[in-house]
Amino acid sequence: MKQEPLTSWRGQEPAETPVLEVRDLKVHFPVTRGAILRTTVGQVKAVDDVSFTIAKGEVLGLVGESGCGKTTVARTILKLVKPSSGQILFDGTDIWTLKGAAEKGFRRRVQAIFQDPFSSLNPRMSVREIVGEPFVIHEPDMDRDAMDRRVRELLELCGLPGRIGERYPHEMSGGQRQRVGIARALALNPDFIVCDEAVSALDVSIQAQIINLLQDLKDELGLTYLFIGHDLSVVKHLCDRVAVMYLGKIAEAGDSETLFAEPLHPYTNALMEAIPVPDPKTEAARPHQVLAGEIPSPLDPPSGCVFHTRCPIAIPQCQEDAPRLEEARPGHWAACPVVTSGRTNPHDLHLAAPSPPQVSPANTAAGPTGR
Ligand SMILES: Nc1ncnc2c1ncn2[C@@H]1O[C@H](COP(=O)(O)OP(=O)(O)O)[C@@H](O)[C@H]1O
Ligand code: SF4
Ligand SMILES: [Mg+2]
Repeated sequence: MKQEPLTSWRGQEPAETPVLEVRDLKVHFPVTRGAILRTTVGQVKAVDDVSFTIAKGEVLGLVGESGCGKTTVARTILKLVKPSSGQILFDGTDIWTLKGAAEKGFRRRVQAIFQDPFSSLNPRMSVREIVGEPFVIHEPDMDRDAMDRRVRELLELCGLPGRIGERYPHEMSGGQRQRVGIARALALNPDFIVCDEAVSALDVSIQAQIINLLQDLKDELGLTYLFIGHDLSVVKHLCDRVAVMYLGKIAEAGDSETLFAEPLHPYTNALMEAIPVPDPKTEAARPHQVLAGEIPSPLDPPSGCVFHTRCPIAIPQCQEDAPRLEEARPGHWAACPVVTSGRTNPHDLHLAAPSPPQVSPANTAAGPTGR
């Protein structure tokens, strides 16, 4: 078992330069008081020492409760937020060193799809204008016919009829609007897309259609995704590897199949057990690990292991020592020495959970929080 995590938690150094590498990322937002003489009274530790890599063609899932820092990671990768420390490497280059044409190239190659297509699309612009806008900004010499042709192609690629270009966002369904958001993200032929809760606002059946579309586009266009979500069943379907975040830190990470089959960290176990099973009888009979209390404030995170205030198997040492990600099995990392040292079998975790108050699955971490 390794003591020191690699900057990536892939378990091995990747054979080729990853498309994206996030190294020891910290994003701390200062909290200030006073309207005129602003004084810093604290720091919101939104992201605290996060590292991961994403290889070309891979889908990495980032999951966790609302407020754990997922969007801040996304915004930092998109160069919308400056890291307090750490690095974001895109194709091996620190994105904060990019200038001029290299910066422009980065802005074309990295695109985003957000949760609420309605609020991210300008209601006064037609679909044709929305999808064509990246060309107006990045390819001002493109003539009108070529742009219209390209917009139609993009809409059709995303499963929409080309004629929908004349409509406005309020004239479309949520699923159609998200397809427009995807078409716009694809306009400049990106190779990396950050999907931040891209399907969270959609009905379940529409979610499945959009996930299938994202999967098909990835295969067809050779895309790489960072897929942020709070619904573990959606993440499981699309992602090759998954990182579970808690209060600005990665609690567990590994390939999707292993992580879902054999979760190690007590937090991941709680998230898994909160996913309702469709059959009501099975659902009623199965044990639920209790995830007590609210997520603590990142302004004043708990000492030691940040999860210790809610952890069913915490020991006194957990209040003192901040655990680091350790490779418990090849490619499967967890930040919990109590589990990785073999002291507790993660599959018995529900037995160690305290008795009531029970939290119903809908109120626990994989429920509606995170939207
Ligand atoms: N610009 C900001 N200034 C201060 N605090 C922020 C800012 N952006 C996010 N935060 C705080 O950082 C934490 C993480 O937020 P966020 O990254 O949006 O989490 P998530 O996407 O997982 O819900 C939250 O406590 C949030 O309030
Ligand atoms: S280190 Fe301690 S508090 Fe943290 S998850 Fe493990 S057992 Fe729980
Ligand atoms: Mg978010």
